[in-house]
Amino acid sequence: MYNIVTKRELVPHINLFEFSAKEIAVKTKPGQFIILRVNEKGERIPLTMADVDPEKGTITVVCHEVGKSTRQLGQLEEGDCILDLLGPLGKPAEIGKFGIVLCIGGGVMVAPLYFQAKALHEAGNKVIGGIGARTENQLIFENEMREVCDEFYVATDDGTRGYKGLGFLEELLKERKIDRVITMGPILMMKKVSELTRPYSVPTIVNLIPIMVDGMGMCGACRVTVGGRTLFACVDGPDFDGHQVDFEELMTRLKMYSPQEKLAFVFYEEGGSSL
Ligand SMILES: Cc1cc2nc3c(=O)[nH]c(=O)nc-3n(C[C@H](O)[C@H](O)[C@H](O)COP(=O)(O)OP(=O)(O)OC[C@H]3O[C@@H](n4cnc5c(N)ncnc54)[C@H](O)[C@@H]3O)c2cc1C
Ligand code: FES
Repeated sequence: MYNIVTKRELVPHINLFEFSAKEIAVKTKPGQFIILRVNEKGERIPLTMADVDPEKGTITVVCHEVGKSTRQLGQLEEGDCILDLLGPLGKPAEIGKFGIVLCIGGGVMVAPLYFQAKALHEAGNKVIGGIGARTENQLIFENEMREVCDEFYVATDDGTRGYKGLGFLEELLKERKIDRVITMGPILMMKKVSELTRPYSVPTIVNLIPIMVDGMGMCGACRVTVGGRTLFACVDGPDFDGHQVDFEELMTRLKMYSPQEKLAFVFYEEGGSSL
């Protein structure tokens, strides 16, 4: 059993959890993820780590409640326990000295992007941060990102705060020499970022989070096509070259179980528990 040391609601339905998990905390590098189960009947929930504290023996994740399992997790409180926690999984993000690195995050994935941005900053890069959300009151981890970025931009889809959409990226690409772009967030956003950087030949790393089951390369659920090759996001990624990813296929695969997911959520919200 793993204990919830801290739970904090960042915005409605997006919670930060700090779990006591010393053996994972000491091994984790930015970009890696865990898979947890709330209870014996619980589905496996992959979450990318947003920070670790090896001395305290804790890991931090931020979870958006989008369906039944994430809602179940969101209903737990400090002091509660979850059944199991597997990790660290996936390849660590490449943290090198690249020069000017632009870190673009959207929605809940701004939290794990912070972990990478912090490491890139510590490695001596000039880090430019750009974070976004659908609307102003959905923005998370703004202060954390500001702390590790040398320059910082905010954007919202509806224009309620900062730039509307990715206008800041277009301006930066035209005016500056960017050495590397790292993007984590909704697929459509990562696809758009990759399309914008392609004409400038800026290496662009995207973080792919397809449906996963075992997280260890055995079930094939997380397969993605990158550069015409079939790869498994859980062991070959989750970071890939954004200019090589087949985003259309990824989007189609993510919608594969939508009817069942909607049904499970409705049933759970109405008081059922076993779907
Ligand atoms: C490696 C990895 C890391 C992840 N990191 C985080 C994280 O740090 N924070 C976080 O909040 N979520 C993260 N996710 C997504 C999270 O695991 C899913 O949202 C969760 O498992 C959904 O479970 P559910 O039963 O609540 O919803 P479901 O009933 O399974 O799905 C509800 C809705 O969410 C969509 N959905 C489900 N899984 C995904 C996914 N992987 N990507 C996009 N949409 C999805 C479905 O299409 C559906 O519309 C990560 C996923 C992976 C594979
Ligand atoms: S989740 Fe099973 S192979 Fe990646």
